[in-house]
Amino acid sequence: MKDKLVYSGKAKNLYSTDNDDELLMVYKDQATSLNGKNKKTIEGKGLLNFQITNIIFDYLQTNGIKTHFISNLDDKSQIVHKTEVIPLELVVRNKIAGSFAKKFNLQRGLKLKYPVIEFYYKNDELDDPFINDSQIFAIDLMSNEEMSFLKNEALKINDLLMPYFDSKNLDLIDFKLEFGRFENSIILVDEFSPDNCRLWDKSTGDSLDKDVFRNSTGSLIDSYKEVLKRLVEY
Ligand code: TMP
Repeated sequence: MKDKLVYSGKAKNLYSTDNDDELLMVYKDQATSLNGKNKKTIEGKGLLNFQITNIIFDYLQTNGIKTHFISNLDDKSQIVHKTEVIPLELVVRNKIAGSFAKKFNLQRGLKLKYPVIEFYYKNDELDDPFINDSQIFAIDLMSNEEMSFLKNEALKINDLLMPYFDSKNLDLIDFKLEFGRFENSIILVDEFSPDNCRLWDKSTGDSLDKDVFRNSTGSLIDSYKEVLKRLVEY
């Protein structure tokens, strides 16, 4: 089944399969911060992100969001649609944290007047720089129609996930999405896990996401396990 490695990312590997239209995505036990400069093997992380992504993608698909997910192969690998990669990361922010707090010197945790959407150009050598709409059109990364669709889809996903996490006593502060082109549409790819979102415990305000690794404030595995437990049990 597993064939040639076609892409090695920070948290996942992609392999070709017998079917040219599909890829095998394998979650790694690796945590990185500072865009890969800080790297550590953490046993069990791949399985947790695999399980959390399965639950979130299933919830989104059930609610009309198209994703690349096809099926699970084993407890760390998924068969996904092969898409034409759009080299952008789309960040949605509900409350101020991370680079937004730093950039504008604003208080962490403040609610934004409305969700903010930002784009970053996916390029490790350049450290994924911020890119605006006009720059995206000028270098032909996306059309106007695709941009409208993406922004709409991101806000729809936010509207689905905010109450979902709220019901698990988790505050969805911000998150990152990636998309690809597939059969005349644009679908959600990559993963949705505490690696690429901020989730704060609504009772304590504690981070239950990768910030515990980035800031060395707690156990990544314990935090991700707590998220999974709430997704499954509540
Ligand atoms: P930031 O505050 O560091 O810009 O991050 C915003 C959100 O996007 C946060 O939930 C983490 C996520 N993110 C990624 O998943 N990958 C990245 O490379 C970056 C910069 C952020």
